[in-house]
Amino acid sequence: MLTSIDEKDYTSFYLHWPFCLSKCPYCSFNSYAIAEIINFNEWREAYFWAIKLFAKQYQNKIIRSVYFGGGTPSLLPSSLVKDILNEIQHYWDFCEDVEITLEINPETAEESKIRGYREAGINRVSVGMQSMYDEGLAILGRGHSVEASIATMKLCLDLFKSVSVDMIYARPGHSVKIWEQELKQLFALSPHHLSLYQLTIENETVFGNMFRKGELLLPDDNTCSDLFEVTQSLTREHGLPAYEISNHAKAGHECVHNMRYWLYEDYIGIGPGAHSRVTIDGCKYALAHETNPRKWLRALLEHQEILEERLKLTPQEQAREAILVGLRMTDGLDYRKIPLPLEQCIDYPAMERLIEEGYIELEGNILRCTHEGRKCLNSVLLLLLASL
Ligand SMILES: C[S@@+](CC[C@H](N)C(=O)[O-])C[C@H]1O[C@@H](n2cnc3c(N)ncnc32)[C@H](O)[C@@H]1O
Ligand code: SF4
Repeated sequence: MLTSIDEKDYTSFYLHWPFCLSKCPYCSFNSYAIAEIINFNEWREAYFWAIKLFAKQYQNKIIRSVYFGGGTPSLLPSSLVKDILNEIQHYWDFCEDVEITLEINPETAEESKIRGYREAGINRVSVGMQSMYDEGLAILGRGHSVEASIATMKLCLDLFKSVSVDMIYARPGHSVKIWEQELKQLFALSPHHLSLYQLTIENETVFGNMFRKGELLLPDDNTCSDLFEVTQSLTREHGLPAYEISNHAKAGHECVHNMRYWLYEDYIGIGPGAHSRVTIDGCKYALAHETNPRKWLRALLEHQEILEERLKLTPQEQAREAILVGLRMTDGLDYRKIPLPLEQCIDYPAMERLIEEGYIELEGNILRCTHEGRKCLNSVLLLLLASL
C-alpha cells in the first residue's frame, strides 16, 4: 500500500526555480523566459534566507524528499544545487534513503553539469522529453530534438538510480497510432518512471489564445478516451502501471515526493510562487510565496517577509484538499486520515450514486476511483465535493 511511506516526523522540501530558456505555448506554470543575465550569487543568498525563515517556525522534522522543480532547474549550476542541499541539512536531517529529484530539460543537459548534479546529491531526475517525434516537439514549441532527449536519457540512466520522463499526449494532430509508437520507443529506453500528461488548454497561454480563436485543432473526445486507454494498457503491459492518474512506475520507483502530496503529508515549498502545507502546533497551514521572481528576489535580499499568505486551514478545507489529491491515486485514499467523518465532507447521496454507477468504490477505509472514474476524475470530484 502506498500509505506505508507515511511517517509522522517526515516532511518534504520543494524548491522552485522560475526561469526557462523560452516559454512553451501550453505552459501556465510560474515560469518565465530568461530576459537578463542571472546573478546566481543573489539567488543563492535569497534561497538561503528563505530556508532560514522557514526553519525558524518549523523544526524537528526529517526530510523524506527534496524536489528541484520549475521552470527549468537544470539551468542551475551544480555547485548551487550542492550549496542548497547543504544549507537544508544545516536545519533539518535527511532520512537515510532520502529521494532528491531535479527536473532536466534536454536543451540544458551538458554532460559535466549532469555529472555535477549527481556529485551534489541528486539521486533521481525527471527528463522533459514531451514527445518522441520531432514534429510533436515542434507543435509543443520545444527547444530540443528527439535525438537530444534520447542522449540526455541515456546519460541519466547511466548516472541515476531512478529516471523519470515527462510526456504530453492528446496534442494537436495527435493520433492513437503515433502515441503507441512513441510509447514503444520510450519503453525501449527502459525508464523507471513515466509522467504522461494529457494536454490541457490553459487560459493566459499561447495555446489558450489560439484555442479561443479556433486555431488549435485538438483530438476529439473519442480519440482522447482511446489515447487514455492505450496509455493505461501499454504501460501495464510493459511493467509501468499507473499508480496515479498521470504517473506510472516500475515497482519501487513511485515518486516519494509526489506521493507525499497525494497522501496530504506536510511539505515545505520555497521560491517564487511556491506553496507549503505544514503542521505547526497541531494546526495545518497553507503558505504561499510571492509569485513574481523579481519581487521575490528583492524581498529576500532585503531580508523582508516573503510570504504572500499564511492560512490556517479549517477541517473542511483540509478534508476537501485531501480528497482532491487522494482520489488521484490508483490505491485511493484512506479516509481515516481526513479530519472529519466522511458524511461531513462529501456529498453522501452523490457518492452512493457514483458507487452504484461504477465510478468509485468504498472498500474498508479506502475510497477510490474505478478505471471508469479515473477517466472522468474532474467530474467525479465536482459531484463529490459540490456541497463543501
Ligand atoms: C512544471 S513542468 C517543468 C518541466 C520542465 N521544465 C520541462 O518543460 O521539461 C512539468 C511538466 O508538466 C507538463 N505540462 C506543463 N503544462 C502542461 C499542459 N498544459 N498540459 C499537459 N501537461 C503539461 C509537462 O510535461 C512538463 O514536463
Ligand atoms: S513546460 Fe517547462 S520549459 Fe516549458 S515553459 Fe513550462 S516550465 Fe518552462
